[in-house]
Amino acid sequence: MMEDYLVLVNAEHPLRVQMDKTDLVCAFDDHPGVLLERTAAKALRALLTDIGNRDSIVPVSGWRSREEQKKIWEDTVAEKGIAFARKYVALPACSEHETGLAIDLAANAQDIDFICPEFPRSGICQKFREAAPYYGFVERYAKEKEPVTGISGEPWHFRYVGTPHSEIMARKGMCLEEYVERRRYCEERKTR
Ligand code: DAL
Ligand code: ZN
Repeated sequence: MMEDYLVLVNAEHPLRVQMDKTDLVCAFDDHPGVLLERTAAKALRALLTDIGNRDSIVPVSGWRSREEQKKIWEDTVAEKGIAFARKYVALPACSEHETGLAIDLAANAQDIDFICPEFPRSGICQKFREAAPYYGFVERYAKEKEPVTGISGEPWHFRYVGTPHSEIMARKGMCLEEYVERRRYCEERKTR
């Protein structure tokens, strides 16, 4: 069971454990290959149903094994160069896709880019974005937080952290790095 929904995974905080695959479930009936952690999948289904999504929003990438992340990194470096890869692809062990708590989404279209899918700030995609915090999800990589997250703006990448964390983060405009640090600071003060 993945109980730490606030787990911070980035270049400075690699994931030390590998996800227990028995906690992974299919989040979209029509996309059996896209897996998410059980609680995150349930929340995502509820969110998509409540905003009235039929198939306007489609999943691009959910849980990834370490090997998959390595291949995505290597293929992206080979195809687009290292500078592009550093912006949009985390190194193996440093991707929160390996936790099963992250999902890349796209507006349904003929050609969907796997690394940088279109998820516009309008229509049902924006409706999803605005409702997401009430269901435990946050837009993880805001453009203005790039210096903190180390990743470029990714309007398509959502991360399950659970409520009320997602609501607080959205209200305060905090990314996960800032939120986790804030909690650590408050905990430390309490024990002083
Ligand atoms: N695109 C995100 C940063 C990842 O590869 O995990
Ligand atoms: Zn992603």
